[in-house]
Amino acid sequence: MSMLENKKVIVSGAASGIGLAIADLFEAKGARVARFDLSPISTGAGPSFTLDITDEAQVVEAVKAADEALGGIDVMVNTAAIFLMSPLLDTPVAEARKVLDVNLIGTLLMVRESVRAMQKHGNGGRIILFSSELAQLGREHHAAYCASKAGISAMVRCWAKEFGPDILVNAVAPGPTDTPLLDFDNMPPDWKALETANPLRRIGKPEEIAEAALFLAGPGSSFMTGQVIGVNGGASMV
Ligand SMILES: NC(=O)c1ccc[n+]([C@@H]2O[C@H](COP(=O)([O-])OP(=O)(O)OC[C@H]3O[C@@H](n4cnc5c(N)ncnc54)[C@H](O)[C@@H]3O)[C@@H](O)[C@H]2O)c1
Repeated sequence: MSMLENKKVIVSGAASGIGLAIADLFEAKGARVARFDLSPISTGAGPSFTLDITDEAQVVEAVKAADEALGGIDVMVNTAAIFLMSPLLDTPVAEARKVLDVNLIGTLLMVRESVRAMQKHGNGGRIILFSSELAQLGREHHAAYCASKAGISAMVRCWAKEFGPDILVNAVAPGPTDTPLLDFDNMPPDWKALETANPLRRIGKPEEIAEAALFLAGPGSSFMTGQVIGVNGGASMV
């Protein structure tokens, strides 16, 4: 039997990068996956939903529809997020607010509605969120993004306490990973050097990050909650 045989999963941010790799890997491991994204999705065996995770009504409706389509929700993975590299002195407040809105409030809404669905069915569940190595490291020109990702690490610890013992809540904190969000190929050489200054001397692949999410969704992590797992080539070792 495959590791996620018959598990019912929502993956948000599934149109691109890490979310796409997770949705594909989870399906290959036997899960039924509902794919959520702002961009329309035409791949995958399960249902897809186009929504903005900052829009409360859209999240309520999409999670309800996914719950009905799949016949329950065992796992919710929220990867959807936006990035902002902007020196503070040049940052309009609307841009900073948008990052906090998508990355924090969007995550909060996805978790709230998924937990409601999990509790309705009474079978427990797994919530898997996405922080970043930058939440620990910090980086110039990235304050709003770093704050949003540090906030996710904090929310993980709150919700692990709030929803245990039935629902386990953990996060993955990737290092630089080859996705459109990082846009590694178009970085200036000094940024490329910074992103590869880790013991493994390279950036990661989305498929390598997806393996950590698979572990958090599967039987091997049954005694883990409130944790943030670094998958970053050793760039951060806290
Ligand atoms: N790529 C990296 O180097 C890296 C490093 C550390 C952490 N992360 C985190 O990993 C996660 C996945 O990142 P990625 O690199 O795959 O990014 P990505 O940009 O490739 O994919 C993000 C997806 O989220 C979707 N999205 C954005 N805003 C949305 C909204 N309001 N509603 C619904 N969907 C929305 C986008 O359409 C996109 O498909 C993010 O949480 C990111 O912060 C990425």
